[in-house]
Amino acid sequence: MTASLTGGLSANPLRQGLRLERTPKPAILTIFGASGDLTVRKLIPALYDLARDRRLPPEFTVVGYARRPYSHEEFREILKEGVAKYSRSKLGNLWESFSKGIYYFQGDLDNLQNFKDLGEFLQTLDSERGTLGNRAFYMATAPSFFAPIIENLGGAGLAGDVRNTRLVIEKPFGHDLESAQNLNKVVQQVFHEKQVYRIDHYLGKETVQNILVFRFANSIWEPLWNNRYVDHVQITVAETVGVENRGPYYDEAGGALRDMIQNHLMQLLALTAMEPPSAFEADTVRDEKVKVLRATQVGQGPNGLAAVRAQYANGWISGEPVPAYRDEPRVNPDVKTASYIAAKFTINNWRWNGVPFFLRTGKRLAKRVSEIALQFREVPHLLFPSSSAGQLNPNMLVLRIQPDEGISLRFEAKRPVADIAMRSVNMDFHYGGTFEVASPEAYERLLLDFLLGDQTLFTRADEVEAAWKIVTPLIERWEIQKASDLNYYDAGSWGPSAASKLMDNGRRWRRL
Ligand code: BG6
Repeated sequence: MTASLTGGLSANPLRQGLRLERTPKPAILTIFGASGDLTVRKLIPALYDLARDRRLPPEFTVVGYARRPYSHEEFREILKEGVAKYSRSKLGNLWESFSKGIYYFQGDLDNLQNFKDLGEFLQTLDSERGTLGNRAFYMATAPSFFAPIIENLGGAGLAGDVRNTRLVIEKPFGHDLESAQNLNKVVQQVFHEKQVYRIDHYLGKETVQNILVFRFANSIWEPLWNNRYVDHVQITVAETVGVENRGPYYDEAGGALRDMIQNHLMQLLALTAMEPPSAFEADTVRDEKVKVLRATQVGQGPNGLAAVRAQYANGWISGEPVPAYRDEPRVNPDVKTASYIAAKFTINNWRWNGVPFFLRTGKRLAKRVSEIALQFREVPHLLFPSSSAGQLNPNMLVLRIQPDEGISLRFEAKRPVADIAMRSVNMDFHYGGTFEVASPEAYERLLLDFLLGDQTLFTRADEVEAAWKIVTPLIERWEIQKASDLNYYDAGSWGPSAASKLMDNGRRWRRL
């Protein structure tokens, strides 16, 4: 049985949940590291899609800042290809007017004079484009440049206008707790926290934002959302892609622990486990996230910390042979980088005491799928004869993050036969079928929000530090003590068998 939850939409736009659309003020967005992949593949296509949806003012202007010697026109041509390939709406007539608002500025990231010259250039653009002195700076560079850029923005007098200047910082924010604290200090010497937008693109995903709506715009879940009813939670972010061409970054960053667990999976955990905030406002939401992150720690297993790490060996993905991690281009074959992590976390508060949160993420796994599954407790007493129950499954609520976005609830139902016999069935909600529009890309939402000055979906200084604190014992074990417990798994599998040993009390990883 599949009970469809596709609801009829009311004629009232507010009841349909449509937001009153806001348009940001005219502004210049300067992207540092503009010759990199992120600008071409994500940022400009997302801005173009926003412009197509009339969410940007006509004066909106982009300045790409990088070292390579491009003319404005050459830079626009590179971006045009990116828009054709990666935007949702694909290249159309709008490109002509949109691209007129894109400029290139050649400069070094560690040269103060270049930043002063940039300041003059931005002033000229203000008068040409009517951008009124509103500035946003986007750091899309390697993390080692974050501090010099911030210092130079300060030195060139480009950061002081607290109301009209914003700073966006891409991940990774720091390499560990100490470096994140140091980076926060550098940021806060130049910018006010109100100006700072730390990106975690998972927060821009529709399905991730929907966790809050699902939990806090419905009354029926809250009574169940605690250790009385929930047995455990599983959060999976599985990818089929390998490390691609990013070997040096990924090795240096330290693999899946820093690339995924500390940020994306911790955000999913925080949104799932946080207390209800008093309002949907940046600081009230983030206060609750910080509180729950501060209560979270790596769980213990029989042999110490309950965590497993592994690296992919060669294998098969979609019928094609794929190489092992150590044979990927630009990867050092001796390196012990983990492309897979599974770990148990516990949350020490009233709501979650005794409910383990099992997190796993990996590259080159069998399927691309991300979800949050809450498994509920078994019934306290089964009144039906066990022969009728067959394989009785506990209730399970699954928030499907991607790619098949939706929510399903598993429960037991009576099979339509003369005896009492039961089977698990699902009630299913699918985004696609219900709303019949493609969800915007995460970057569209995030770019729009920071241009509007809404920090709700960005991580605050204390939040990022709390997340680092949680993973610190794992960093210590694997990097400082150099524990020799790296497992291997075949590409195209569901990860190392050691991961199943993390599941205590007869629990099992979900088969996806
Ligand atoms: C990035 C990681 O932050 O997220 C990548 O650096 C990863 O390694 C990516 O592939 C996954 O994002 P998504 O949106 O494809 O799930």
